[in-house]
Amino acid sequence: MTTSNPSQHALVIVGGSMAAVKAPSTLRRLREAGFETDVIAGRAALEFITPLSLSTAAGRQVATDETWFEARPDAQHLTLARTDVTVIVAASADLLARAAHGLASDLASATLLSVRGQVLWVPAMNEQMWTHPAVQANVTTLKSWGHSFLGPAQGAFGTLGEGTGTGRMAEPEEIAAAALALVSHPPDLQGLKLVVSAGPTREYLDPVRFISNPSSGKMGYAVAMEAQARGAAVTLISGPVNLPDPPGVTVVKVESAVQMHDAVLAAAADAQIVVMTAAVADYRAAEQKTEKEAKTAGEVSIQLVPNPDILAALGQHKSKRVLIGFAMETHAGVERAALKARRKNADFILLNYPTQQGTAFGGDDNQVTLVRPDGTAEAWPRLSKREVAARLLDEALKVRQSAR
Ligand code: CTP
Repeated sequence: MTTSNPSQHALVIVGGSMAAVKAPSTLRRLREAGFETDVIAGRAALEFITPLSLSTAAGRQVATDETWFEARPDAQHLTLARTDVTVIVAASADLLARAAHGLASDLASATLLSVRGQVLWVPAMNEQMWTHPAVQANVTTLKSWGHSFLGPAQGAFGTLGEGTGTGRMAEPEEIAAAALALVSHPPDLQGLKLVVSAGPTREYLDPVRFISNPSSGKMGYAVAMEAQARGAAVTLISGPVNLPDPPGVTVVKVESAVQMHDAVLAAAADAQIVVMTAAVADYRAAEQKTEKEAKTAGEVSIQLVPNPDILAALGQHKSKRVLIGFAMETHAGVERAALKARRKNADFILLNYPTQQGTAFGGDDNQVTLVRPDGTAEAWPRLSKREVAARLLDEALKVRQSAR
């Protein structure tokens, strides 16, 4: 295994599950990987594992609710939160719920509210609990904040009689490798400004009705988070979505395509990379009524006029700026995407299909094909949107290098 930078620190939080017995070996693996470690054991964790075995493995005193109270007013949760990566092992449904709802009544949850580095959840619970909508909703919330998850895997549970299924915790070696991967982001976008657009636009017909589309914004937010983690100064121009602002990113909220056009062009003036993931409405009403339209008996028609094409406008003054678009096509995808890339002067377009399960609109994953203006294409496997973002940025850097 490669090792972390000498100064990197991992905070391990141990949850109340049978898998807590793997916490000491996880701590040892993290230290072998070069991390300095601290460890927090919640009250439930101490039912499964002794403070002495955790302290010995961490090379530090274990922090517990008792040490937290004794240390007051020194705010031990804030000191512990200053870490590069927080790894929650034997993560229970209870701990996931506390974190997702912002509780702070014990040391583990108060620390989780305060951490700013990477967060890696390693859940361990039986399949019935893991698949419950309440747990899955909490996982979705935590993922939307950029938290990562490892497992649970298929396999036997710790408790006799519970059988096999999804729920077994990942092995200490895998956990240490995943923690290392999270902090090993190359700071390869340092000194660069990246602008990314996300979400739908809303084209109002009158004060209460609008034309829009189901874009969730997740792809664009993933690009913003990934670019920020790799050192870029990031401006995110977002249509109306239901996602929290990514930490460390400048967020500009817009509604209509015209507003998005103006905001993107202003932010892009000094940017080296622009990524248009937004699903921009192609048309707006010719006339936007200032009062609500009353219903009439007969048919009505709405006259629509074209919106500005933001990517094409950027393409007209491209110079060395890297321009990346997205396209959703139902047929002849590669040809249509290549044509769009040429027409808009984009370096490449990531193409996806609206019909694929769990990908594109609203999903956490995406399956895209990279299409260049010359029609060459490269199909990527199904990946999380964060992984697609990482690859997209790798490609953007290749384009920058080849343009030099
Ligand atoms: N785009 C844009 N401004 C618009 C429309 C689209 O910047 N008014 C960007 C999108 O953000 C995306 C790319 O252009 O990155 C392709 O979007 P798409 O809707 O597929 O392109 P259109 O030109 O609208 O093509 P179509 O005729 O298929 O709708």
